[in-house]
Amino acid sequence: MKTTPQMNRRTFLKKSIGSLLGGMFIASFGYYYARFIEPSRLTISKHSITHPLIPKSFDGMTIVQFSDTHLGDYYSLERLNQLVSQINDIKPDLVVFTGDLIDAPHQYPYAHQIIPILSRIRAPFGKFSIYGNHDHGGYGTNLYRNIMNQAGFRMLVNEHAIIQLVDKSKIAIAGMDDLMLGRPHFEQTFQQIPPSTYTILLLHEPDGAIQAAHYPVHLQLSGHSHGGQIQLPFIGPLITPPLAIQYYEGFYEVGKMRLYVNRGLGTTRMPLRFLTPPELTIFTLKHQPSSASDG
Ligand SMILES: [Fe+2]
Repeated sequence: MKTTPQMNRRTFLKKSIGSLLGGMFIASFGYYYARFIEPSRLTISKHSITHPLIPKSFDGMTIVQFSDTHLGDYYSLERLNQLVSQINDIKPDLVVFTGDLIDAPHQYPYAHQIIPILSRIRAPFGKFSIYGNHDHGGYGTNLYRNIMNQAGFRMLVNEHAIIQLVDKSKIAIAGMDDLMLGRPHFEQTFQQIPPSTYTILLLHEPDGAIQAAHYPVHLQLSGHSHGGQIQLPFIGPLITPPLAIQYYEGFYEVGKMRLYVNRGLGTTRMPLRFLTPPELTIFTLKHQPSSASDG
């Protein structure tokens, strides 16, 4: 059947309106998903960390990393409380927090209510924390330190702690001050660590790995990137913050060091997450026999 020019125009108009409505539907669904669904879709990722310098008696030790809660209008104390229960359900041996507790410390009215919540976290081998840029921002430096200390976390600021078992085997947990707003000092952080000690560095900004790889660090744990908060399929994040440009999510090899970038739990600037859901990470340590002791 032959089509008239009028019918063609009508079909064209119908198709255009259909595409427009379809586009609007996808855009509004995408926004709804990024605003109300994905930010609360917690993912728990599990990884084994194997290395010859991890002592045999540390086999099976679990470390939970949580990061970037950004407590504020879009991450409530109630969510933090639920998170703490989830961490305790994992029964970790060690817990580390890699910075950015409150989004804007100087505007946050419930700071004192954080302490009893974080105090509930149970970790028999210790709870450790470092500064992120938001913890120093808004005159938060002392507030953050007090909250973490009173909640039973040991703040690591250009220093390290030794985790030693009854058989005297040990690993080191080092922590650096924030690279953007703190006073980081690489030499001071590592100078007292006994040689051949497996060392885990907590450093908020992942791109600090480029410098950290020149020191005796075996694993760096970072946050800060939020995975970019918005990622597109096949493209990745549209924007990542300064010092999360090169490394923004998951594992990387940087020189002889491994780096893990946790996507964090909260959001900043925009309360949106798309293809980069909030994350809690569980690492299980494993001794790797050297080839000599294999035989
Ligand atoms: Fe952050």
